[in-house]
Amino acid sequence: MPTSPPRPVPRRALAALCGVVVAVGLGACAPEETAERPVDHVLLSPTADPRTSQTVTWRAAGAEESFLEIGPEDGSGRTTRVRGRATGGEEPGDTFAATATGLEPDTAYRYRIGRISGGGGDGGGNAVSDWRTLTTAAEGAEPFTFLHFGDVQDDIAEEAAPVIRAGLEAAPGAELAVHSGDLVDSADSDAQWDAWFEAFGPATGSMNHVTSPGNHEYADGSLSDHWVPRFPGAGNGPDRGEDLPETVYHTDYQGVRFVVLNSNHREAAPRSPERWLETQRRWLERTLADNPHPWTVVTFHHPLFSADPDRDNELLRETWLPVLEEYGVDLVLQGHDHSYSRGTLAGDQGSGTVPVYVVAVTGPKMYDAGKEGWTEHGAEVRVQLTDTQTFQTVSVDGDTLEYRARTADGETVDSFTIVREGDGKHVTDGS
Ligand SMILES: [Fe+2]
Ligand SMILES: [Fe+2]
Repeated sequence: MPTSPPRPVPRRALAALCGVVVAVGLGACAPEETAERPVDHVLLSPTADPRTSQTVTWRAAGAEESFLEIGPEDGSGRTTRVRGRATGGEEPGDTFAATATGLEPDTAYRYRIGRISGGGGDGGGNAVSDWRTLTTAAEGAEPFTFLHFGDVQDDIAEEAAPVIRAGLEAAPGAELAVHSGDLVDSADSDAQWDAWFEAFGPATGSMNHVTSPGNHEYADGSLSDHWVPRFPGAGNGPDRGEDLPETVYHTDYQGVRFVVLNSNHREAAPRSPERWLETQRRWLERTLADNPHPWTVVTFHHPLFSADPDRDNELLRETWLPVLEEYGVDLVLQGHDHSYSRGTLAGDQGSGTVPVYVVAVTGPKMYDAGKEGWTEHGAEVRVQLTDTQTFQTVSVDGDTLEYRARTADGETVDSFTIVREGDGKHVTDGS
């Protein structure tokens, strides 16, 4: 934990800090006020090194200032306050982000959010949130499980949420969730973002969320105002290119390098899609070339092999596929097609080896699926499903990666195992 003393607290803010003052030892204070507009949308967003640092984002509507308080869960060390940086969002001052640094690996921390509304008006009141718990990544390649969700997008509360809840219940110890875009249908809909956060419940603030934007996170060529404040990325992506520094990044978690790309060239860079994708390709190549970990998972929204030939993403495939294949990425997690497909390159090139390409959908909107979009481009589909909403669990343990796709009622609809053998990997279908 950082050793610098807490920042001075504005006098007018002391009333807000009653609970915090106890934690940081500043002395007595006025009774805690009740917030009329609570802190919500609390989410863990990964840093480049989640062993020792953690970004938290949240909404504190109408707050003048807001801050993160974090300390060891067992009370063995001091609690530190990190001032939230206002990130704008739907209204200036509504959303905040803070990154705690100097954390210990594989350690449980408790954290909460404080809000200061300033001098009256419709500021929403001063308050501190309840304590939540997060755990930092272990130092080495310790076994862990992560979840994957394709497009949530439609009828979130009624039709997508049961799949999400089933995923969280199937993997209660999951340490990460990967989202392959189209989290919502209307990029700037407050109600849909509220529904998304409601569907995940406390899990937005207990595990890191690795998120790639879909085309539905864009409106009129612009990335949703909700996106970067909630999902600021790890700051290690390309340093230029429309939206790329904010949406492209990698994070390393217990032997797995997770890589997030942005496939929305039609929305973000319609005038120079080749250059925009090439910028990501060069960054991807560097990121994979210096990957010290045994496993690699890449996610983006538009699939390289589509279940509908009319939805082919040729430019993406031409630009990124050779790099994903050359560096032996293990899993490529995608969305957009509103059906389920899983496969690899065909024949001697790839069958039975990595990368494994997955396309999945969490929400209820469904399209037809066919194999031509795979087979005509040198790939083979091992499993393809229509009208099937799924969540995926992936467990990584030493030389083995186990993947399973399930429906809300727990039925396994696809599974496979990747085993690391020497310098190679071998994929075996589940039974
Ligand atoms: Fe979609
Ligand atoms: Fe999409």
